[in-house]
Amino acid sequence: MKKNFLKYLDDKNRERYKSLFQVIWQHWQKLFFAMICMVVVAASTAASAYLVKPMLDDIFVNKDSNGLLFIPVAAITVFLLKGVATYGQNYLMSYVGEQVIKSFRNRLYENIVNLPLAFFNKEKTGVLMSRITNDVNIVKGMVSSAVTSLLRDFFTVIGLICVIFYMDWKLAVWAFLVLPVAFYPIIAFGRRVRRFSTGCQEAMAEINVFLHETFSGIKVVKIFTMESYEKERFKEKTDTLFRLEMKSVVAKSLSSPIMEFLGGVGIAFIIWFGGSRVISGVSTTGTFFSFLTAVMMLYDPVKKLTNLNNTVQEGIAAITRIYDIIEQKPEIARPETGRTVEQNRMEITFDKVFFRYINDQDSNNDKDNSWALRDINLSVQTGEVVALVGMSGGGKTSLVNLIPRFYDITEGRITIGGEDIRDIPLSSLRSKISIVTQEPILFNESIRDNIRYGRLDASDHDIEEAARFAYAHDFITVFPKGYDTVIGELGNRLSGGEKQRICIARALIKDAPILILDEATSALDVEAEKIVQKALANLMKGRTTFVIAHRLSTIAHANKIILINKGEIVESGTHAELMAMGGEYFKMQVMNK
Ligand SMILES: Nc1ncnc2c1ncn2[C@@H]1O[C@H](COP(=O)(O)OP(=O)(O)OP(=O)(O)O)[C@@H](O)[C@H]1O
Ligand SMILES: [Mg+2]
Repeated sequence: MKKNFLKYLDDKNRERYKSLFQVIWQHWQKLFFAMICMVVVAASTAASAYLVKPMLDDIFVNKDSNGLLFIPVAAITVFLLKGVATYGQNYLMSYVGEQVIKSFRNRLYENIVNLPLAFFNKEKTGVLMSRITNDVNIVKGMVSSAVTSLLRDFFTVIGLICVIFYMDWKLAVWAFLVLPVAFYPIIAFGRRVRRFSTGCQEAMAEINVFLHETFSGIKVVKIFTMESYEKERFKEKTDTLFRLEMKSVVAKSLSSPIMEFLGGVGIAFIIWFGGSRVISGVSTTGTFFSFLTAVMMLYDPVKKLTNLNNTVQEGIAAITRIYDIIEQKPEIARPETGRTVEQNRMEITFDKVFFRYINDQDSNNDKDNSWALRDINLSVQTGEVVALVGMSGGGKTSLVNLIPRFYDITEGRITIGGEDIRDIPLSSLRSKISIVTQEPILFNESIRDNIRYGRLDASDHDIEEAARFAYAHDFITVFPKGYDTVIGELGNRLSGGEKQRICIARALIKDAPILILDEATSALDVEAEKIVQKALANLMKGRTTFVIAHRLSTIAHANKIILINKGEIVESGTHAELMAMGGEYFKMQVMNK
């Protein structure tokens, strides 16, 4: 165990604890008052055990009527104090704990949102979500319960031990030789129970993932008639959970009888030894019962203190996972003071650009084959339209993703208006670019807000105009709530083409000088596409545009057509030039007919 702790004390972790400590320390006043409350709780617990002695000796044995008045009043005072202090301590510690949670959640989200796309390709969304929801909770548990245990339970144990020794130190010495034997199994059982309950939680998480997948993919399950296969798989999972739950139940249900029995044995010993002292007149009845009460009251804080180690270990593991993400650097350096691009110079050049996705798995791949893009040379004048065509997986999406620096190129350079894009502040660069991505992505808000996402200060009139341009206005107004329809309420009712048109409206409203359309109209029928094309054609005027498309109607009017295959530019020119060449583009078009 010593080793375990040492592992957590290297330099990197020391920094992390320091920063965690700083977060906690911001609330030092609340912590200070919480500590006072804890001391009061501890003192009143000890006092309540102490009160048993005058109660028995003065009232019941000596029949002193003064005591009859004094002791109940004292009892009320003690329990009132304890109640108020317990409330205060719970409130204050939870306040600090929840504040810590909030601040970590915000920090995690702020950091994750700023991380480059490559990070999101690597990490599963579910894992990231669990960092922000679960791990943060574990840290709170550690902060509030560890601090509470350390102070309140520790003081309580000290107070009770004082009472025990004050009452009868000889009996106390004997008791402390015997009691650890009874306490040890408690600790051992606690560990076992915790291990099984962790197992249960993991099994439950797996069931959640399974349900999510099979329900959202129900279409696939049904068309491949995999219902019975999935039912079997689900039964296996519930079986696993059942077995784990039962193990946990056995451990839990055995633990309390065994603990009670051992505790009973310990108490029997105390009764035998203490009782013989009362009978021989060395001690009084009140002393003995006060002693016994204090011993029994020790059980709870001692149990909590022995759990402390586990809570702290779990908390430390969670902190490590959280900081692993908080400390991730945004891979793309952000020159905040860099030059901005002049609005009227939007020519884009690719100069000997090489690009490869950095994936941990294929680091030992053949270097030459691992390029996603190889030796790309391309120049596009302001206001020109470039169409990218080619086989699936050729690298079209990869190429346009480099312009807003979703990924950084490996070799070569890309310039906009003569500036290397790596010298332009990221926010300025991206403000110049509008994209309709290959998969339509909408957020669960109203259609109006989804379109407004492109430009937050857009008026309702602008939004409607953009929707008309994108040929979306007509189907939006059919919904009972029109533009105020929330996407989620529609469920799966939006067709692929309808989603695309909302995405187009969102891209249009941004009014950026560079426009990237990655198969933006692929889900539309030929008629609808023609109309959207017209709108887009108006829009492309004066803008530098990249269009990825398969249909001839979309690309025929482009100033330049680039054919990309296996990461390389194979052919380039106007439609007429490429057709005259009779190369791959020609074959593609002829086959399409
Ligand atoms: N995030 C990524 N990480 C690693 N490799 C990727 C990633 N995205 C794409 N690739 C790979 O890069 C190559 C080019 O993919 P890209 O998406 O650019 O093709 P595309 O021309 O847009 O194809 P499509 O017409 O099917 O959309 C593919 O071999 C693909 O597997
Ligand atoms: Mg693509």
